[in-house]
Amino acid sequence: MLEQRRTQEPIRIGIIGAGIMGTDHAQLLASQVRGAVVAGIADADPIRSEQLATSVGAKVFKDGESLIAAPEVDAVIIASADHTHHRYTMAALAARKPVLTEKPLAPSIEECREIVLADMERESSAAPQSTNRERKYPRPGLVSVGFMRRFDPSCAHLRNLVDEETYGRALLVHCVSRGVSSAAGSSTESAISNSAIHEIDFVPWLLDSPVTAVTWQAPAASKHADGLADPQLFTLETASGAIASCELFLNARYGHDVRSEVVFEEGVASTVEPTLTTVNHAGASATTFGPDWRRRWAEAYRLELQAWVDALKSAALNADAVNGVAGPSASETQSNAPDVTTRLHASGLASAADGMAAILVVEALIASHRSGGMRTPVRSVADVLRGSPS
Ligand SMILES: NC(=O)c1ccc[n+]([C@@H]2O[C@H](COP(=O)([O-])OP(=O)(O)OC[C@H]3O[C@@H](n4cnc5c(N)ncnc54)[C@H](O)[C@@H]3O)[C@@H](O)[C@H]2O)c1
Repeated sequence: MLEQRRTQEPIRIGIIGAGIMGTDHAQLLASQVRGAVVAGIADADPIRSEQLATSVGAKVFKDGESLIAAPEVDAVIIASADHTHHRYTMAALAARKPVLTEKPLAPSIEECREIVLADMERESSAAPQSTNRERKYPRPGLVSVGFMRRFDPSCAHLRNLVDEETYGRALLVHCVSRGVSSAAGSSTESAISNSAIHEIDFVPWLLDSPVTAVTWQAPAASKHADGLADPQLFTLETASGAIASCELFLNARYGHDVRSEVVFEEGVASTVEPTLTTVNHAGASATTFGPDWRRRWAEAYRLELQAWVDALKSAALNADAVNGVAGPSASETQSNAPDVTTRLHASGLASAADGMAAILVVEALIASHRSGGMRTPVRSVADVLRGSPS
């Protein structure tokens, strides 16, 4: 049967960006994710493209646009520099191909707004799958955003405890995000938009409640701060009445250390660093931290990609259906198969609106920082979609 044949075929994924994240995603897809193949690679640096494509048996495309347009690419991952996300996401939407873009959705609110509106325009009329989590944002369309913490088993367990109110309501969240050293060219504001953005997505996802106001502060900077306000401390207030305190310390020196703790009415629960061994030696007991984020989140990246591929596959997605190619095969698939946006909606991946919500919190945090720590309200996605993007 045509449809069976299609669902048995791997999803052919094109990856734009062959740097750290593009390479990581390509290797995971090639070796640890079921149901997909890496069909193409495009990077502004042709040597990087060639090397990565060779290592995973994919074709090299001269640029992101030609990769998106290629009939042998069913779906697209964007892992190129932040400023390219808007342009490639819009191109993927124009080609009606599902796209998983690395965070941020786009650096500016105006770009995010354009993406969300374009994604909503092509949204199917199929009803969303029922969920006990109230939907606060527009339904997802074809765009997903790589907020992989949602797939980390420890973070997911924490969220279950919140959902089920196992220990009562969640009152406070404490997040710690520490790294070894800041990247060259980092600023206080880029630390918020590049690094803190993970906490900014994590907290409302964890509590199922949007961030409504923020306050930014910083103590005297570390001697390793390299011109930044480092560490930074900020609070996120949610519509549910909870408050999250978040420490961001890029130059903490000792390792990549990210943790979260939820204070409930009748207990406290914390994420646990995945670790293989504890070493007892010379009067001390030690576990190790990775030098960067990749070891800590390796399983989350794998599960995120698997969830995305599973959603695409379960929608009996193939090149014809995704590309909206006219003719009997496309119409048959679209009428009989579960709608891809419904599948993506149920997959747990962050949507374009979630990506936009994160950028609106970034905007408020930067405003709070610039004002010397004023409590700053956060604009809602719905308001910004209705009104002016500025
Ligand atoms: N989810 C996460 O945990 C996480 C972690 C790190 C980075 N990121 C995000 O992933 C993306 C990539 O980050 P990275 O660390 O891999 O960076 P990187 O610098 O290692 O790689 C970026 C690649 O993009 C390529 N590129 C730049 N402009 C391009 C264009 N116009 N077309 C095609 N390729 C282009 C560069 O040549 C480079 O190879 C960024 O958006 C970043 O914010 C996400």
